[in-house]
Amino acid sequence: MATTPDAASQGQGAISALLQEDRRYPPSSEFTAQANAGDAGIYERAKADPEAFWAEQAQNLDWMEPYKTVLEWDVPWAKWFVGGKLNASVNCVDRHTKTWRKNKAAIIWEGEPGDSRVMTFGDLYREVNQFAAALQKLGVKNGDRVAIYMGMIPELVVAMLACARLGAPHTVVFGGFSPESLRDRIQDCEAKILITADGGWRRGGKVPLKDNADKAVVECPTIQHVVVVNRTDDARHVPMHAPRDVWWHRLMDDAKHAIVEPEALDSEHPLYILYTSGTTGKPKGMLHTTAGYLCGTMTTSKYVFDLKDDDVYFCTADIGWVTGHSYIVYGPLANGATCVMYEGSPDYPDKDRFWDIVEKYRCTILYTAPTAIRSFMRWGNEFPEKHDLSSLRLLGSVGEPINPEAWVWYREHIGADRTPVVDTWWQTETGHILITPLPGLTTAKPGSATIPFPGIEADVVDEQGNSVPVGGGYLVLKKPWPGMARTIWGDPDRYVNQYWSRFEGWYFTGDGAKRDEDGYLWLLGRVDDVLNVAGHRIGTMEVESALVSHPSVAEAAVVGITHEIKGQAIAAFCTLRAGNRPGDEAADELKRHVAAKIGPIARPDKIFFTAELPKTRSAKIMRRLLRDIGEGRVIGDTTTLADPTVLAEIRSQYEEKEG
Ligand code: WTA
Repeated sequence: MATTPDAASQGQGAISALLQEDRRYPPSSEFTAQANAGDAGIYERAKADPEAFWAEQAQNLDWMEPYKTVLEWDVPWAKWFVGGKLNASVNCVDRHTKTWRKNKAAIIWEGEPGDSRVMTFGDLYREVNQFAAALQKLGVKNGDRVAIYMGMIPELVVAMLACARLGAPHTVVFGGFSPESLRDRIQDCEAKILITADGGWRRGGKVPLKDNADKAVVECPTIQHVVVVNRTDDARHVPMHAPRDVWWHRLMDDAKHAIVEPEALDSEHPLYILYTSGTTGKPKGMLHTTAGYLCGTMTTSKYVFDLKDDDVYFCTADIGWVTGHSYIVYGPLANGATCVMYEGSPDYPDKDRFWDIVEKYRCTILYTAPTAIRSFMRWGNEFPEKHDLSSLRLLGSVGEPINPEAWVWYREHIGADRTPVVDTWWQTETGHILITPLPGLTTAKPGSATIPFPGIEADVVDEQGNSVPVGGGYLVLKKPWPGMARTIWGDPDRYVNQYWSRFEGWYFTGDGAKRDEDGYLWLLGRVDDVLNVAGHRIGTMEVESALVSHPSVAEAAVVGITHEIKGQAIAAFCTLRAGNRPGDEAADELKRHVAAKIGPIARPDKIFFTAELPKTRSAKIMRRLLRDIGEGRVIGDTTTLADPTVLAEIRSQYEEKEG
């Protein structure tokens, strides 16, 4: 397995490779005039005193005890709103039930088969309390970890908020992950309870969530109970192992009318752990805490999406990723907003499912990913044109750099050339949006995430950490912000090394960026060994580990190659052990193997068999060469790679070129 990141992907070479293309389109300033109009001084105010700005925002939270200090900053350890006490479920639910919002829709949910459900804040309040009581009965206490492995159903939100009510950090594992990925995450955070469903609907089929959960928990001794939602009515087919397994609906029946006093939690109490890919084979459990995270997600939701009470806000992310945590659950609900939540696939039963949902519920805000936008473009304009999308007044993009063509198409064909488009840059680690235009205040440029959110100090620096006024470099963050991850669960050293060692005192994002003459930021993609496949983060090392776990594979190297729709796709180079034959059959087998090990999102698009991996004299894998081969720039007929002389020849040409 390749264990050393290569020089090219870490050094300035990566930046110049990323800088090849100039993506600029003319600026577009036609933002709705009223948006954020009341707060035109926000940038200056936040710049003058960022802590005062965040303190001002924190007044919008409901506190059980006021905090004493806004920020304690001992690089890289941040504590925000020190000494305060609060509860996230109270902020997202209880407080709205004390106002007219009690009967306002909190979640408008649509299942893939077409069933739907509206939950008001009052409904959410009752269910969160009921389920919190159920969890208590199962022995969950303040500080216990609870794993959640579900599809996009309202019970997922109820489960998260019930955990938050008890002070039990949740870890949501994306329902598309494999049993092994689920097992690893449960083992890492030593979860006590697993909440899942019998299955979930996806493209008309059932995802076997409970089967996967059963496979995972065999090796998870910390799990005491598995709670199962009956989603697909597969009750008769799902084996329940008493007393470990319990049905969600039984627990809820037993807890009818229960009210659970919310825990008064310290500002820095862990709210959740969310695993994300890094540059090693082992995912990192990013830890987010309560007050700062809520303040950051609530504030950014409010300003970036210009959230108002009559908005119907549709975020298409899955809650298994951070976008769903911050911008379906915590941020919008803290604002008392109405969120549309959809269970299934955008192309089921037809390629207009999102437009159908937008029209049906009169959605006003749509937040989705460039990969989806590029798919819509390819599917053709007739799909959005079939629907009345005139309710939309703001569009958002997240997850990867958006190419200007997709940005312009999105605005023209979905936004009818009328709506602002906010391209929002952030990460699992940052907790909330950090670089984005603000509608009504910032002139957009298609393809640029524009400028930092108020109170955020971002910079583009060179190898030595010198600021690059105009040009390309590494994106760093120079000041702490409230929603920043506090550490990696169980591995503070890795947290320091990964994020705070590359440039002393600053947070290193792992992204390359370019700054133009107007100070606008253009995100260029990752400069480390993390891939972004259809907006999903996957570590090359994770895929490499999965490949070498197959008995036929001796060595593997994985690179990201440009993909028209997904942004990046996975190409894997494998050397086989003696006695194994390369070919289509072997490639299919390895693709299946990776999908089973990690999840279908990590399935390589291309597998190349090579007699050896091209390495530099210092034994570093030449990933740039692999990328060129993967993208077809070097040789046409790649099957010949299995001949040892071919690769040797290409490599020597490369070595000459690179000096
Ligand atoms: C990429 C998702 C360009 C980036 C919220 C980052 C983006 C990684 C954008 C984080 C954007 C996310 N423009 N690139 N608007 N948004 N990225 O942790 O490379 O799943 O480092 O968080 O996605 O991915 P994550």
